[in-house]
Amino acid sequence: MRRRDFVLGALGTGALPYVLPQGAVAQTGRTTIPYGAAIRIDPMLEEPDYRKAVLDYCQVVVGEGGLKWIDLRPDRDSFVFDQPDRLLAFAEEHGLEMRGHTLAWYAAMPDWVETIASAEEARTELVRHIETVVGRYKGRISSWDVVNEPIADHPTREAPIRDSVWQRHLGKDYIELALRTTAKVNPDARLVINDFDFEQPTDKARARRKAFLDLIRELKARDVPLHAIGLQGHLQGEIAIDKSGLTAFVAELASMDLAIMVTELDIIDNLLPGPEIERDGIIAQRAKDFLDAIGAAKRPEAVLTWGISDRHTWVPIWFSRDDGMPNRPLPLDADFRPKPLMQVIQDFCAE
Ligand code: XIL
Repeated sequence: MRRRDFVLGALGTGALPYVLPQGAVAQTGRTTIPYGAAIRIDPMLEEPDYRKAVLDYCQVVVGEGGLKWIDLRPDRDSFVFDQPDRLLAFAEEHGLEMRGHTLAWYAAMPDWVETIASAEEARTELVRHIETVVGRYKGRISSWDVVNEPIADHPTREAPIRDSVWQRHLGKDYIELALRTTAKVNPDARLVINDFDFEQPTDKARARRKAFLDLIRELKARDVPLHAIGLQGHLQGEIAIDKSGLTAFVAELASMDLAIMVTELDIIDNLLPGPEIERDGIIAQRAKDFLDAIGAAKRPEAVLTWGISDRHTWVPIWFSRDDGMPNRPLPLDADFRPKPLMQVIQDFCAE
């Protein structure tokens, strides 16, 4: 059986896997759509190959952690800015843009927030957090994931919004509060709502697309400041991209005068074939289908991957492989060598 037939069998979708064109070498340097990645500041400062890869490929960086409540707010009265300060210093030293992730999220929250006992207290804490954090980096962090993952996993008409300490005390108005507060503190910041699982040909993804569009229409109808939508892009490698569904979704968002960012692209490969060449080919093809479907409606203003090398990725935490082989979700392998995925991203960004 020819390798290509094997892969087609594995794909079963008729989409040809992406194979690096003969002689194609991933070019480093400037591209038209800025490319960037989520960074782990400590390993990056300690590992020269990691640092070199970031400087070779990235124009934008975001902290994989550091600006989440769990990192910033060990207790109600303190703010710990060590990690984001160091990442920002690195970014500014090398002329890279830094994104802020994230101000209002359900996850990565310190235990003490569960002691918040009223709507008034929740409002006070959310506003104080945003004023302090956004205020500190005013003029230095240009775009913020103000609200992360607001849509429930399986949204219904009655319950479209994901449960969180903010939702519980303030209802979905926490979203408007977070956006208006961020805009007041830093009127020049690009305000982003970031979410995931919109790209699959499934009832779940269709319901999430609908719930998300309903939320955005409401915010726009009330003139709530919002500039862009972050499509995370944690793609399930074994599931085809619903290209027409995704293109239509992005077109709806664009029609509401919103920019689009790809904010956390990686391809979850725990259910993909073992052999690396086949797996890398499928991974690159999924990303190409995802990016092309978005680009068919609106060119994203940035493309970020959630990490840059398989050496530092969250995927094994949640999606390790039964065959024990390492996951390969990112554009560079564990030795920072480019894979077909990097070529796909660079071709898309350079178009
Ligand atoms: C993940 C980090 O990568 C992990 O290290 C951490 O344990 C959990 O959070 N969506 C997001 C990111 O918006 O912040 C998450 O990052 C991955 C899913």
